[in-house]
Amino acid sequence: MAGAVPEKASHGHWSSRYAFMLAAVGSAVGLGNIWKFPYEAGQGGGGAFVLIYLAFVFLIGTPVLVAELSLGRRGQLSPIGSMTKIAEAEGRSRLWSLIGWSGVVGGFLVLSFYSVIGGWTFAYVIEAATGNLHGITADGAGALFTSLLNDETKMLFGHALFMGVTIFIVAGGVEGGLEKAVVYLMPALFLLLIFMVIYSALTGDFGRTLSFLFAPDFTKINRDVALQAMGQSFFSLSLALGSIMTYGSYLTKDVKIGPSAVTIASADTGVAILAGLAIFPIVFAYGIEPGSGPGLIFASLPIAFGQMPFGDFVGTIFFALLAVAAITSAISLLEPTVSYVCEQVNHSREVVTVYVGGAIFALGLVSALSQGDSGIASFKIGGLDFLSALDFLTNNIMMPLGGLFIALFVGWFVSRKSMLDELAMEEKWFRVWYFLIRFVSPVAIGFVFYDILFG
Ligand code: TRP
Repeated sequence: MAGAVPEKASHGHWSSRYAFMLAAVGSAVGLGNIWKFPYEAGQGGGGAFVLIYLAFVFLIGTPVLVAELSLGRRGQLSPIGSMTKIAEAEGRSRLWSLIGWSGVVGGFLVLSFYSVIGGWTFAYVIEAATGNLHGITADGAGALFTSLLNDETKMLFGHALFMGVTIFIVAGGVEGGLEKAVVYLMPALFLLLIFMVIYSALTGDFGRTLSFLFAPDFTKINRDVALQAMGQSFFSLSLALGSIMTYGSYLTKDVKIGPSAVTIASADTGVAILAGLAIFPIVFAYGIEPGSGPGLIFASLPIAFGQMPFGDFVGTIFFALLAVAAITSAISLLEPTVSYVCEQVNHSREVVTVYVGGAIFALGLVSALSQGDSGIASFKIGGLDFLSALDFLTNNIMMPLGGLFIALFVGWFVSRKSMLDELAMEEKWFRVWYFLIRFVSPVAIGFVFYDILFG
């Protein structure tokens, strides 16, 4: 604990800048990078998607990341509390607290299905450890994934285990278990990913991967790809759903937000690109359809584990580390709601976490059962199953809109002086950031939305 703690004395702080960076990178790096980015790039035609994605990450996502961290640190409360407090201090409408509300509710919704996917990674730890990936063919890997989706016991068990671990860590407080989990395990995942890239490059179709990911086919750029890439850039950086604002509220004044945000965004993007480089060589070598959707990593990586020496072992470690990365992200999705409810009620953090986590688990059951051929799966919203519909709502609507309003608020409704004071940046960098957040972010996000609604 360090620094002045205004309102609630129970509100903890990161023990060091390093602890904060690990937690923030832990939040950003997760299933979004390794599971989602490759299949979305595959669906978006490869390079076209990657190019728009990179532009969104650095020109819009990173400035919004800076904005969200500053709002959290200035408010020192949950996203809802912080937004209300800052709006009041700046003499603005309390309606701005809706940004906090949308964040807390959105985090709740995302975690409900994130946990289901997290459960898949646990299931694959077991598949790999018990030798079920040994010598698996492309068809076999596809069939294994489909059979998981239809196995209600495994789906529910995975979801329960994932939420259980997340609740357990969050109940203990951010400063405790989390720090230890990230300090060794995240670098281990990074090294293993590099190993996978090398293995895939040597055994798969690396040339085609490079041209697929990095030689954009401009005819593939359209409004759906742009919307998807924008949503994914926010998702991957954990933006606009309260996670980053809450982590910002645990920040002490001495941490420089600008450089931290650039480091977080670079690490996050690096992991996503590595995941793409590890997966696509196998996808192309085995004739898997790049645009086949959310099962892409589960249909491709097992083939590599099935062939390499000690593949059962490497596969087990890989999926276990992926589960860890997913849990450090899940923690940041649970934290905003928990911190808000703790502000409102007089119960211990442990009790609040169990109730909130239990409610998220319950909602997630619908997503878990929506993936196979069971009754719930035939219930569609706009042609999407329940999990995909929640994903669409949060990824493509709530997050970009949240980002838009954060940019507008910070750029136009909070005084320049307050921001300069909060960021303590060199004047020239401040100007760059201020221009991006006032003009570039709102215009770009607004443009994509306008095109969707009226184009
Ligand atoms: N960024 C995480 C991932 O890539 C997921 C995540 C954590 C998230 N917190 C978030 C996504 C807040 C959106 C908003 O897996």
